[in-house]
Amino acid sequence: MSSCEAATKKAAELFKEVVCASVAERRVCNLALAGGTTPHDLYQKLAADVYNCDVPWASVNVFFGDERDVPHDHVDSNYHMAQRALLDHIPIPPEQIHPMPADSDDLEASAGEYEKIVRKIVTGDEPMPRFDLILLGMGGDGHTASLFPRTEALSEKEKLIVSHHVPVLGRNRMTFTYALINAARHVMFLVTGEDKADAVAAVLGEDKKAREEIPAAQVNPVDGKLTIVLDAAAARKTDLKPAKN
Ligand code: 6PG
Repeated sequence: MSSCEAATKKAAELFKEVVCASVAERRVCNLALAGGTTPHDLYQKLAADVYNCDVPWASVNVFFGDERDVPHDHVDSNYHMAQRALLDHIPIPPEQIHPMPADSDDLEASAGEYEKIVRKIVTGDEPMPRFDLILLGMGGDGHTASLFPRTEALSEKEKLIVSHHVPVLGRNRMTFTYALINAARHVMFLVTGEDKADAVAAVLGEDKKAREEIPAAQVNPVDGKLTIVLDAAAARKTDLKPAKN
């Protein structure tokens, strides 16, 4: 098994553990999926195991941590990727899946509408909606969700969902803000590949200045767990040793 496959397997095990524990404790799991390419194999693995795993999908509400400004049937859509790899293959009521409307004509209004849905469904007996599990990836520049370096979304303190123009992409994105991410009960990063090694080293390193430049380094759940699952290539510039399989 490659290191990347081992990381994906570990992430699937943790994913299932957290979802099952959430449903056992609170009768529901409010989950936010990551986009990009890294989680694709994780989602396929979860879909493949659905017939012999005990994930209570009927008690799971699925949201998305960020989305691109394309329709949900577009090949670049994070929803589209998750739908094809996982959501079409698991017994989850369609009304419990909440795609992010990032290609609307009024992105600010759409972000506000999505935030209302999050607040309505996820908020329990605490003021802040607390996701049971937020899955995140990391870009080579240290972005996570669609919180990119030197963008205004990084300084948003009130809103939970924002849409913003990302200059480095030349595109708009909709994203969870740190306020929502850091309110989660559990945040799990799944990061693989050599191209992430510098960002991972900065996130886990002692260089305060370097960390300040890395959006992923600002993910720090206020009252929750943070798990970072890496393959050997992504961990290459850290002093971490591979876990025993
Ligand atoms: C997105 C993701 C983004 C992703 C990183 C890593 O919309 O692209 O949400 O934050 O996790 O860009 O992407 P890869 O997994 O493709 O390397």
